[in-house]
Amino acid sequence: MELKGLILSGGAGTRLRPITHTSAKQLVPVANKPILFYGIESLKNAGVQEIGIIVGDTEEEIREAVGDGSAWGVNVSYIHQEAPLGLAHAVLTAADFLGDSAFVMYLGDNLIKEGIAGFVEEFRQKECDAMILLAHVSEPERFGVARLEGNRVVELVEKPKQPQSDLALVGAYMFKPCIMEAARAIKPSWRSELEITDAIQHLIDNGFKVEAHIIAGWWKDTGHLEDLLEANRIVLEDIMPSCQGSVDEASKLDGRVIIEEGAEIIRSAIRGPAIIGKDSKIIDSYIGPFTSIYYGVTVVGSELEHSIVMENSSIENIAGRIEDSLIGKNVEISKSSVRPKSFHFVLGDNSTVGLF
Ligand code: G1P
Repeated sequence: MELKGLILSGGAGTRLRPITHTSAKQLVPVANKPILFYGIESLKNAGVQEIGIIVGDTEEEIREAVGDGSAWGVNVSYIHQEAPLGLAHAVLTAADFLGDSAFVMYLGDNLIKEGIAGFVEEFRQKECDAMILLAHVSEPERFGVARLEGNRVVELVEKPKQPQSDLALVGAYMFKPCIMEAARAIKPSWRSELEITDAIQHLIDNGFKVEAHIIAGWWKDTGHLEDLLEANRIVLEDIMPSCQGSVDEASKLDGRVIIEEGAEIIRSAIRGPAIIGKDSKIIDSYIGPFTSIYYGVTVVGSELEHSIVMENSSIENIAGRIEDSLIGKNVEISKSSVRPKSFHFVLGDNSTVGLF
């Protein structure tokens, strides 16, 4: 059975502001690769060739990053959703693209470490109308939650106040075309969205066969900063060391470190797992475990650990160690010689700064 892919990248990313005021949350790099690219790779590995990406306000940026999909050997087309009105609304928006094809829907901010190829293959073989993936989580109220009886899904509730289980809906779903009818039948939820959770419940209520699998491996919806840093940590755990840049004699690399092309490490210590992006410069600094420095970044006389620094930012001569931080694009953090001696900030809306 030919399956199409539908990746959702239209959301506003409110939980990751201020980064998402100017850029798409799906393009935030995890171990120096935009989150969205992991999803495209997952679909490709599951044998999906035709991928439609649902885009919203950040369409241009996503188009520029992904192009026509040829970098992955898949065909990508773009479907504009006029407003983020819910996952089931996105399915309806993609009606022309999907036609009467079965499809895999993948949320563009989700990372599923084991991939989805095994589940997609099982869906191809099976006579079911939908397949959902579930994972045990500690805060089920943040997700769609499933109640099972044996292997049978009996109830799905979106962000329940009193969750009936700790099984959250993972952001990868497999559907036969009957989901379209269900998406048309449901009403918007309390958050004014057409919930895919409700559409799947509608399938169950109308006698369609919905299968569930509890995934064993690691999964993350990277909506919040802590999740993003955790995703970065998990992906970095598995990197293989390599050096395509230059490291001078006075520098020391410990553990698994990737130095990308054109990066320069001068009089610095890098303790892996860590990755230093293309053309970045690390001078008289310490970069500690679980840190991803994206491309074109300059770090001088500073210490960073367990953080993500996005492209073309610079961090210079900061006295304390920067930890647990997400630093956006083109950010400058430096010690100022301007008197009076004071902190000087230009911060976007909803920025968070922790000083000691
Ligand atoms: C969405 C779904 C939810 C699911 C989650 C997974 O939530 O509505 O059921 O558990 O993705 O990432 P949202 O990100 O829209 O809050």
